[in-house]
Order: sequence, then structure tokens, then C-alpha cells
Amino acid sequence: MLVLLHAFPLGARMWEPQLALAGHGWHVVAPYLRGFGGGRMQAGATMTMEDYAGDVADLLQTLGVERAVIGGLSMGGYVALALLRSAPELFRGLILADTRADADSAETRLNRERMMALAKTAGASAIADDMMPRLLGATTHAARPVAEATVRALIQSNTPDVIAAALHAMMTRSDSTALLPGVAVPTLVIVGDEDVITPPPLSAGMATAISGAELVVLQQAGHLASLEQPELFNAAVARFLHRL
Ligand code: MLT
Repeated sequence: MLVLLHAFPLGARMWEPQLALAGHGWHVVAPYLRGFGGGRMQAGATMTMEDYAGDVADLLQTLGVERAVIGGLSMGGYVALALLRSAPELFRGLILADTRADADSAETRLNRERMMALAKTAGASAIADDMMPRLLGATTHAARPVAEATVRALIQSNTPDVIAAALHAMMTRSDSTALLPGVAVPTLVIVGDEDVITPPPLSAGMATAISGAELVVLQQAGHLASLEQPELFNAAVARFLHRL
């Protein structure tokens, strides 16, 4: 089974192009992280990466799956690393896409607080306006209007309280850098060459820190590489899965 964990502030449907990986004989499971996709949360509710990771562990248990290849893009990668810390036995392989292992800087935390206030006062569409310029790469902004529309719709399907709760989870997450040398399962690190949120050198650093990890840099893809260059992304994942 291949489990794919979505980015902030999108949702499971960002993985629609990756459902084609099921053709390679893998069950593909792409859950919504708690509240995403139109779920409700109380105003002021907070989440942690450990909460999201616990939900993924519960899901695997419910499905009767002992081990899976678990991958995440950006915030999904933060969740995958939190799960790796608490339940490494669940991993048959690890995919880290357009993500990073370290914790938020003080500057990033301040920006998260600004975004929490923006979500509360102006809603998900204001969050989309705020993030869209950096979420997608230059090539997508210039030439892939459908991808832009898809991402905007995904963001707007989330409630402000769910967005704010996820911002809290990201700004309070632990630094996972020290975990990397201990990763004992095959690992694929993927990044778009136009990713400005988690730029390629961060992925190169993670791939170096994890013994035997493979690094794939996708051309003309930004932070949401899986939906900006789905065929290249899927090819990299399929090659990885075939080797397991
Ligand atoms: C994401 O794509 O999940 C977020 O941009 C990650 C972040 O803001 O740290």
C-alpha cells in the first residue's frame, strides 16, 4: 500500500494524478488530514503533527495494514516524519516530496501567526491569494492555468478554523533532522526545481542525511511538484516502488 499525505492548505484531491500509480499494482490511499476537505473544527482549535500522524496510524490499523510506503508532500512530509518518529514499524518505504526536516524559524512562526489572523478575518480565499504566488513554480504560473485553478479550488474547500489549526501544527512541530540518519527503510526524496518554499538544496540535504536515499529533481515544477509535473512525479515514484 502507498499512503500519500497532502500539503497545506490543500487536501487529498491534490493526489488525483497519483491514483494512476494503482496501475502498478499498489493500493493508493490518500487521506484527508483532520478537518481538511470541508470538515469543521471549533474556532480556536489547535492540532499538532502528532495528532495528524496518530490519525494516519489509526487509519492503517483500521485497514488492517501492518506496513506501507508512506509519503508526504510539504506538510504531508512533516506528518510522515512525525509518524516515523512515533511508529517507524509502519514504514515499508518513505517518500519525502517538496518538504523539509527542520522546524520553523522565528520568522516563519511570525508569518504563521499573520496567516492565522488572515484566515480568521478574510477566509480561505485570502489564504489562497497569499500563498498562490509561491505554491506553484514559474512555469506553472506562465503556462498551466488549469493547475492554478485546481489549487485555488482545493484551498477554498477548507474552513478558516481548519487552516488555522494546521498552521498551529506546523509552527509547533519538532525538528526532525536528527531522525534522518536513523531512517532504515528505502527512501525517495523528490523536489521541483522551481520550488521556492522548500528549495532543492533542502531536499539534497535530506537525501544526503538518509543512508541510500534517492534524490529526484523534477524539471519545471514548483512546490506542488506532484500536480505540476504529474507524469514525471509518477514515473519517479513508480521506479522507486518497483525496486522495493
Ligand atoms: C505546504 O505546502 O504544506 C506548506 O507550504 C508547508 C509550509 O508552509 O511549511
